[in-house]
Amino acid sequence: MGCLHGFALLVLYSAVTAAAASEDGKNWCYLSQQCQVQGCKEPRQWATLFRDCGKKDQSPVNILTQQVQYDNSLKAFNFKNYDIKPSKKWTMQNNGHTVQVQLDGSGMVELGGLTGRYKAMQFHFHWGSQEGELLSPGSEHSIDGERYAMEAHIVHIKEEFNDVASAIKGKGVAVLGFFIKAGNKNANYEPLISNFKAISAAGNKTEIPALALGSLIPEKKDPTSFYRYKGSLTTPGCNEEVIWTLFEKPIELGSQQIQEFWKKLYFDTNTKFSMMDNFRPVQPIYSRTVYKSNSNTLLPPRNVLLLISTAVYLAFTLIQ
Ligand SMILES: *[C@@H]1O[C@H](CO)[C@@H](O)[C@H](O)[C@H]1NC(C)=O
Ligand SMILES: [Zn+2]
Repeated sequence: MGCLHGFALLVLYSAVTAAAASEDGKNWCYLSQQCQVQGCKEPRQWATLFRDCGKKDQSPVNILTQQVQYDNSLKAFNFKNYDIKPSKKWTMQNNGHTVQVQLDGSGMVELGGLTGRYKAMQFHFHWGSQEGELLSPGSEHSIDGERYAMEAHIVHIKEEFNDVASAIKGKGVAVLGFFIKAGNKNANYEPLISNFKAISAAGNKTEIPALALGSLIPEKKDPTSFYRYKGSLTTPGCNEEVIWTLFEKPIELGSQQIQEFWKKLYFDTNTKFSMMDNFRPVQPIYSRTVYKSNSNTLLPPRNVLLLISTAVYLAFTLIQ
């Protein structure tokens, strides 16, 4: 492996681009870009530029379902204003790493094992690529080693912060992660996907009609079963103490819709390099525990069972 094709060109242009190259050397990139951006640092090298990327509470992780710890205090989330369409338009941008939509913080979450309320500030996606007819998965987290086609991240910050940057400093970030699998076409995503052509190049922005956030995630009754662990941002600076929630039920998009991500979006300003495989590989879990909410189980809680057996016992003694 390596960048053999690029090598001759690299030598040819190295004199011309020497100044640019030293600039590029400071840039982080995904593995899929290693041969496109001269000297960029791929995920295994991020820690050389951003120290936190080498710490021990990093994201994403592989979740081993046999090792999760069920936690009764992880009640279902209360999604506030997720069903309301904001009146102001959304700004959607290609930031050179992903497609990201800025939010006004009106959508909020509480409960779900969180303390206080968190407001939604932006969402973005991670995706894979295509190998012939097959989709190559691009989710960041995995479940028992299995990755999904894509992953959506809705970045929330604690209510008292004004922006994501200060919430990162103040350790007040909670990300809601949703896996995305290929399935039925999802009409709710068309207002996003149909506007990708306006933001093909890195740095491009466009305005789109705002949507109800809830229309982009599985129905209300479904996001009750989720995993929780303490991790980091999955892009540099990889800041830690991010509260991660990964919902078990995936979002469905049509496979044509998924393909639009790498067919319409590019990593670079010249629209030469398709944006694909923009995920960080899983990081070691070290001493962390992944918790799982219990709210999907149909069994009544233990104290109810105890009551029933006591009642049966009492009835039995009465009969005797
Ligand atoms: C998108 O970005 C490219 C490269 O910077 C620029 O040339 C182009 O005008 C931009 N397009 C729009 C619609 O803003
Ligand atoms: Zn992300």
